[in-house]
Amino acid sequence: MATKKKAAVKKAATAPKKSGSGIKEFFPVKDSMLEKFFQDELKDIYWAEKHLTKTLPRMEKAATNVKLKAAFKNHLAETKVHITRLEQVFSMLGLKAQAKKCEAMEGITKEGSGIIEETKTGTSTRDVGLILAAQKVEHYEISTYGGLIQLAKTLGLEDCAEVMVQTLNEEKLADEGLTDIAENGINYQSSQEKAPATKK
Ligand SMILES: [Fe+2]
Ligand SMILES: [Fe+2]
Repeated sequence: MATKKKAAVKKAATAPKKSGSGIKEFFPVKDSMLEKFFQDELKDIYWAEKHLTKTLPRMEKAATNVKLKAAFKNHLAETKVHITRLEQVFSMLGLKAQAKKCEAMEGITKEGSGIIEETKTGTSTRDVGLILAAQKVEHYEISTYGGLIQLAKTLGLEDCAEVMVQTLNEEKLADEGLTDIAENGINYQSSQEKAPATKK
């Protein structure tokens, strides 16, 4: 996807509504702490999205259900677009795209790797675990993009917010798609798989 080169236009942001006083407009101070924080969080999610391009193929390989495999493959393609959109946001801000290690995403994906190790190949139980791990990833992304969109609006960066809204919607759809796949067979099939006997 071609990156749209467009500089961020700072507009007056809208302050929260105060009862009876209508809507108040304001401009954030130049180089505000919020602007710096926003940029740091962009670096964090940029690292996370890049990291996911390495994790999603492993999840696709480990999955058994064909719909689940396809969902991981499709979301890998979307994730690559999410990276491009973040690069677009950095460029709109006049910044070089930079990644900062996201400890949370590293932890969530480590947990996903643990699930693959602890479950048997070819079982629906492994697919259940993969869905659970993937949904934790999606929820992390949903909360991050949701927060960043709000911060962009407060900073008067409406056009940056618009770019991230597209990604946020795709993360939500990915999450809902995983729920559908789980509820349409995998969870039930896993409940029919006998666990190996353990010593008492
Ligand atoms: Fe993403
Ligand atoms: Fe995602």
